[in-house]
Amino acid sequence: MTSGAQTNDDTAEGTTEDKVVDFYDNFTEVFREIWGDNLHVGYWHDADDQAPVEKATDQLTDQLIERLAPQPGRRILDVGCGIGQPAFRLAGAADVEVVGVSISKYQVGRANERAAELSLAGRVSFEYADAAELPFPDASFDGAWAFESLIHMPDKEKVLREIKRVLRPGSVLVLADMFSQPDTELTFQDIISSPEMGDYRAVIEKAGFTVREFTDITANTLAPQAVRETIIAGLLARKDDVIAMTGPEEFARMVDGIRVPNSYGYLLATATTD
Ligand SMILES: C[S@@+](CC[C@H](N)C(=O)[O-])C[C@H]1O[C@@H](n2cnc3c(N)ncnc32)[C@H](O)[C@@H]1O
Repeated sequence: MTSGAQTNDDTAEGTTEDKVVDFYDNFTEVFREIWGDNLHVGYWHDADDQAPVEKATDQLTDQLIERLAPQPGRRILDVGCGIGQPAFRLAGAADVEVVGVSISKYQVGRANERAAELSLAGRVSFEYADAAELPFPDASFDGAWAFESLIHMPDKEKVLREIKRVLRPGSVLVLADMFSQPDTELTFQDIISSPEMGDYRAVIEKAGFTVREFTDITANTLAPQAVRETIIAGLLARKDDVIAMTGPEEFARMVDGIRVPNSYGYLLATATTD
């Protein structure tokens, strides 16, 4: 399958949402042990930046925080919150309230436990919700990010419209996500889909946002050689667990894709509501 197409139509085995829930309920811990608490790619500033994955993933969060730039007291929605690490970093950088949602009950439970452990539960909380049907009133947030989560949502325009509904006028949405590149093999086709870069911008605009920045940061998300070797070693150390979620062929493609990255692009977008 080449990129560009939406690949994860629902099948007799269940909807995309069912498969995403299954993936994150069962494999968040395996993912976390290999990759760390941030369930997103790393950001390396330049060729001299040899940051390990844990630091590089925080560096990507910092790129989003910079773009969101929330004023103190604002209420921010984290769409697809993982186990809360980006939300905690945001709450550490700005005096804001953060509400995260995930479709994985496991992640929501774990994220709330971690908020309590970090004494952040009064300011950072997590709820089980599908981003396509947010359980919040209209205009109840001052800003939002969708941090590598729309990749799992086939109808991105619908989700973006739903995010827009809960944002107050003049709010900022920051979006970090993968995009497809022509003629490359996609991995995890069951649970991900992504348009090509230009099409992605059009989706954000069709949902009613004004795009202020739209940047291809693919080059910054490619780990330095030494870091890639560490990631591969981590994957091989947990090979059986990873194969249990991916199957052997997907596993081999994953390892190859880390050795010679060539499949996904990565974009950062900032958009506003009128
Ligand atoms: C790659 S992880 C990123 C997690 C987090 N943003 C981070 O950077 O650590 C994707 C996240 O999107 C969430 N997600 C996927 N589909 C969703 C949906 N329909 N509604 C809400 N969350 C969803 C997953 O449960 C997971 O938390």
